[in-house]
Amino acid sequence: MFLRDLWYFGALSSELKPGQHLHRELLGQAILFGRDHEGRAFAMKDVCPHRGILLSGGKMQCHDGESQVECPYHGWRFRTDGSCAAIPSLTADQTEAMDLTKIRTRTFPLHEDQGLVWIYYGSDENPEPTIAPPKLDLPEGEKPRMVIHDVFNCHVDHAVIGLMDPAHIPFIHRQWWWRSGKSVHDKAKQFGPVGRGFSMLPHVPSKNSYLYALLGEPQTEIRFEIPGLRTEYVKAGGKHFTGFTAVTPTNENSTAITIVVYWDHPLLHITPNFLIRKGIEIFVGQDREAVNAQQIGLAYDPDLMLIHDADVQAKWYFALKRAWTKHRETGEAFVNPVKPATLRWRS
Ligand code: FES
Ligand SMILES: [Fe+2]
Repeated sequence: MFLRDLWYFGALSSELKPGQHLHRELLGQAILFGRDHEGRAFAMKDVCPHRGILLSGGKMQCHDGESQVECPYHGWRFRTDGSCAAIPSLTADQTEAMDLTKIRTRTFPLHEDQGLVWIYYGSDENPEPTIAPPKLDLPEGEKPRMVIHDVFNCHVDHAVIGLMDPAHIPFIHRQWWWRSGKSVHDKAKQFGPVGRGFSMLPHVPSKNSYLYALLGEPQTEIRFEIPGLRTEYVKAGGKHFTGFTAVTPTNENSTAITIVVYWDHPLLHITPNFLIRKGIEIFVGQDREAVNAQQIGLAYDPDLMLIHDADVQAKWYFALKRAWTKHRETGEAFVNPVKPATLRWRS
């Protein structure tokens, strides 16, 4: 249903405070993200193995220097490695007679870097990562300058292909400060395979975007990798503006969109932040309204089309999903199905 054996964006580093945890639904599962009192992030299944209440309803505690999550129902406590540390209703001799560490809640490998917390979603048989966590191409030590959250009421596939689709731009994103409605023209963009995805290779963006013109001769590259990681790099005069978008399935019918923006471009330091934020929120809000409206039609289960060349990126997305699934099922090496190509469309 969802791709497995991949790193997913889980949370922002700034969302995890030491000694606290938060609940999140990811890939249809309840996950507790926490940070122990020493500052290490962890993730576990947010369901108590005793009677199934959410563990995140309880508090994190420190016992003998060890951080433990206490279940709100009967007070069972779990270490950050998922093992049970205490069952308060047991008498001393009952505790003695029982191996509490056999009681566990599943934990997930985590990786924290560039202000992002990544969670590895392995299969039940192979929970340990076999691939390196994603890393954005940023100068050392860059921290997020802005974060925007949104929720699309659709399956992750529609969110992903909706965000990479060039043909909707003149219809859904028509605003005077971005481009005028008259500026539709022929485009030709070069693409090539990268990692588990593809790149719209570095190019000078179209002259029809006023904002790009302000930055001064920028070069843009847009990379996409499964499961749903899109990064737009704008580089101008040795400086950068980077927008990372994580498209993360919450469940079958809901997808979390997290946009994390990094920059060191001086012009953006002096631009009031709320303007940049507002601009991004308007864009994402328009995409949300489009995919949410699309759900009404999809409820009738229509056959759908993907056409050349405007929908080729969507075709690649589905081909990448198939190639990754085949690789995981057969053990054969992963072969990126994307071939270098120039795609042409009008937008
Ligand atoms: S449900 Fe968690 S301790 Fe009973
Ligand atoms: Fe869009």
